Amino acid sequence: MTHPGFFLVLEGGDGVGKSTQAQLLTEWLGSPVGGFAEVIHTREPGGTELGVALRDAVMHGGHVAPRAEALLYAADRAHHIATVVRPALERGAAVVQDRYVDSSIVYQGGARGLGDQVEKISRWATEDLMPDLTVVLDMEPSADRMARDLDRVEAETASRAQEIRQAYRDLARAGGDRYVVVGADRDPASVSHDIQQAVTAALESRG
Ligand code: TMP
Repeated sequence: MTHPGFFLVLEGGDGVGKSTQAQLLTEWLGSPVGGFAEVIHTREPGGTELGVALRDAVMHGGHVAPRAEALLYAADRAHHIATVVRPALERGAAVVQDRYVDSSIVYQGGARGLGDQVEKISRWATEDLMPDLTVVLDMEPSADRMARDLDRVEAETASRAQEIRQAYRDLARAGGDRYVVVGADRDPASVSHDIQQAVTAALESRG
């Protein structure tokens, strides 16, 4: 299923600056040099009204069984892609999204040990909608970050931060030119500059 829009996903461990970069990229894509008349900045979990409730349930409540957690993220994703992302892409918009299927592969499939089924569930949930480009923000997990207030999922996966970092790097390596890994331990403007270059190359290569 092709579409006239541009679907860009930002991925990476907790605290690597995805939200800041998503904001900077949204502004740039909507500027004359970025060239998109419509740019949507969204996120998973929580990019819809239903998603906000699911985000709250999965991230701020008590223990959630790992398979239930995986299905809640997939439910959020199914509704978000069907009602927000796909319609925007079909209108020709650029969609800048904070986290997508790779988050489930890395956190539920890897860190929670649920394996390959997690990806299959997400692919079914999204009817195989693939990003045009995934930017993996990469940096050494910070000790400061570990000490700060963490949500339930972050607290339970913080001890696996190195493993999560490596899992993203592996996904990017296997995914070829649909991925770019950008060093995130620098000032946000330099990181954004590198992301803009990767986006420009991706837009040029598809003509
Ligand atoms: P964030 O919105 O601050 O990035 O937090 C989302 C948290 O949810 C983060 O700890 C990663 C986790 N998460 C998963 O475990 N699986 C998923 O599929 C997604 C989208 C997020």
